[in-house]
Amino acid sequence: MTDLDLISTAWQARKHASAQYSNYLVGAALITVSGKVFTGCNVESSSYGLSICAERVALFKAISEGEREFVRIAIVAEGKFTPVPCGACRQLLTDYAPGIEILLSGKPGQFEKVLLSDLLPRPFSGDFLR
Ligand code: THU
Repeated sequence: MTDLDLISTAWQARKHASAQYSNYLVGAALITVSGKVFTGCNVESSSYGLSICAERVALFKAISEGEREFVRIAIVAEGKFTPVPCGACRQLLTDYAPGIEILLSGKPGQFEKVLLSDLLPRPFSGDFLR
């Protein structure tokens, strides 16, 4: 699957976003080493803190189905700025997919590629606990 295919899958996933409180709709598509794709969208709660980001939905779906090796994640949202993953998602991606490539798209067909290590330098990790 090409980078643009993964981006387009994330835009499709964004259509399911349940973001009635923020109106900020996010989609994600995560591809594993074996080539399987897991999608996610943000799902919000009236008790705001219970909401979950699109990236974590995709990651938890994949982990809960036994996947442990990830190559790339596409994150898409429309807004003033190109989307970036929040701090909590950066941490979880560090925990489960430290070398992952991140594709960020604010418009279908356009994207920027970054490394997680650029978004979260000097991360806390499981290494500190061993
Ligand atoms: N959101 C995501 O889905 N991913 C991020 O990395 C940033 C924030 C969602 C959470 C919430 O539903 C809305 O965007 C506004 O914060």
